[in-house]
Amino acid sequence: MAVRAGVIGCGKIAERASLPNLVNYKEKVQIKALCDIEEPKAKNLKEKFDLSGVDILRDWKKLVTRRDIDVVFVDTPNYLHEEMVIGAAENKKHILVEKPITITVKAADNMVKSARKNGVHLMVEQTQRFDPVHQAAKKVLESGILGNIHNIRGRIGHAGPEYWSEGKAHWFYDKKKSGGGAMIDIGVHITDLIRWFAGKKITEVFATIRNIEKPVKVDDNATVLFKFEDGSKGEIECSWTTRPYEVLTFAYGSKGKMMTAIGTEKPVRVIIADTNKGKDPNNPLEEMYPEIGPGNGWENAVHYFIDCVINDEKPFVSGEEGRETTRIINAAYESNDSGKWVKVK
Ligand SMILES: NC(=O)c1ccc[n+]([C@@H]2O[C@H](COP(=O)([O-])OP(=O)(O)OC[C@H]3O[C@@H](n4cnc5c(N)ncnc54)[C@H](O)[C@@H]3O)[C@@H](O)[C@H]2O)c1
Repeated sequence: MAVRAGVIGCGKIAERASLPNLVNYKEKVQIKALCDIEEPKAKNLKEKFDLSGVDILRDWKKLVTRRDIDVVFVDTPNYLHEEMVIGAAENKKHILVEKPITITVKAADNMVKSARKNGVHLMVEQTQRFDPVHQAAKKVLESGILGNIHNIRGRIGHAGPEYWSEGKAHWFYDKKKSGGGAMIDIGVHITDLIRWFAGKKITEVFATIRNIEKPVKVDDNATVLFKFEDGSKGEIECSWTTRPYEVLTFAYGSKGKMMTAIGTEKPVRVIIADTNKGKDPNNPLEEMYPEIGPGNGWENAVHYFIDCVINDEKPFVSGEEGRETTRIINAAYESNDSGKWVKVK
């Protein structure tokens, strides 16, 4: 029997990520209900995706208590994630919550505890980990071909939420609802990606988080330096004033380097210049362009989550992973306020 899904929040991410990738996985998942506090939004998506027979609800509590639903997608503004995830977990639903998992470490902790107590899977939709480009890059890093990685960096940028989400979506600029600006909104993507790429703990951060251009009360650009547990270093940049959209990463090791740039013709470039083998490490010995797998970040994430539920496997982007990334984001804001390096608690 197919997994039965309910979606809470019928805004942009439901339209762009959750619904199309549930619909194109119908052999494994069936949509039962859509919920939005603004009912016409749910109705519009029901029509757009031709979901006859799917119920429309205004109250999310009525969705999470339904017996004919196994998995819940939490696609609402950040400040609502905690209560909705806990409400779904207490009703024994598996949950895919949008990034960022939530705003504070305490809230993330409550969500993780509730999922554990209720024996349900909680996954955070950190889409960048599922982009085939980044999956190919992770394999390169794990292969050891670059030697010891001593520096790893990433940058994500786009033109800002006003070019993404429509209508009243400008909760993105309300700190109480979003938790902050670019730093939490897309800084969470690149921080989580760099953490995953590095595969080691970030112990300290130093951040410069600013509003440079947008007439809003939250940050639109941030730079954060990382110290990893083994003494190596890293850095992320995120920006709501970058046109067009980009995601770039760089990894430097004792035997070579790797650069990734999604959306380009050869998105993963690996250059080997091993000092022990070549005469001159400034001249590359070898250059490689790993093959990129199918799908895209959103599609791969949604399908992976459904497969985890079917196979009863813990998602590798678990609530615990979301909580660890929240620790870094919170420490970055703290560092910006104090102007000092901050230990990640
Ligand atoms: N993974 C990604 O790449 C990605 C991209 C963009 C946004 N997101 C995340 O997705 C989430 C939603 O963002 P969005 O861009 O879709 O925002 P949005 O404003 O377009 O949609 C949010 C929807 O939630 C609804 N909503 C608000 N309160 C509700 C409630 N109490 N009950 C039910 N519905 C309610 C709103 O009416 C709206 O339709 C955010 O956490 C955001 O950070 C993830």
